[in-house]
Amino acid sequence: MAVVPRDFILALRQYMKSIVILISGRGSNMEAIVRAGIPGARIAAVLSHRADAAGLAFAAGQGIATAVVDHTAYASRAEFDAALEAAIDAHAPDLVVLAGFMRVLGADFVRHYAGRLLNIHPSLLPCLPGLHTHRRALAAGVRVHGASVHFVTPELDGGPIVIQAVVPVLPGDDEETLAQRVLAEEHKIYPQAVRWFVAGRLRVTPDGRVDVAGMRPAAFVLHCPPLEAD
Ligand code: GAR
Repeated sequence: MAVVPRDFILALRQYMKSIVILISGRGSNMEAIVRAGIPGARIAAVLSHRADAAGLAFAAGQGIATAVVDHTAYASRAEFDAALEAAIDAHAPDLVVLAGFMRVLGADFVRHYAGRLLNIHPSLLPCLPGLHTHRRALAAGVRVHGASVHFVTPELDGGPIVIQAVVPVLPGDDEETLAQRVLAEEHKIYPQAVRWFVAGRLRVTPDGRVDVAGMRPAAFVLHCPPLEAD
């Protein structure tokens, strides 16, 4: 097998987009992004505010730098945000990815990463922002549910939407079955959004929508099940 010189690898790195991923727990979305092997992207680090976040072990096993910024060690949210920002910026990221990161981040933090901070939320935004989205979808009796990847703005779960996935809510669903159906789609749309970002294809319009350069119109078509005949 040919040996690639270390200097060559280091030289290549400067042409790759550096990504820092923040997690709070399981980290399955982070794992999907890592496993996607996105061309031109380098996962520089996976950070968490919890030392027991299960996803950290996966990242470390992939040779990715990991670090914990423990939110309980800071007296205020502003101090935690500043420490987190320093840990992130040590990797000079082009993109910061919130992947199941369950801390609300302050407006200054969000502004610092404006245009390069993505989040995934388990609902069809702007419906059901906040917590317990699957439980609330079931309680509301909605027929469709899903997930959204969006740019982060200071408004909670409110930034420009990059991509969404829709799933049906089926008779007999409970919170767990619905969450699993949504999560399977999250693992498809988050790597897709990151791939678009890395390829420079995302542009936020002045009115706060996201254009995806070169997107084929057919890619936007949704397939719905036929209605049952009477
Ligand atoms: C995912 O379902 C993600 O959409 C959700 O947390 C889960 C994390 O799973 N995020 C939020 O609710 C953010 N408001 P993961 O750790 O396996 O990626």
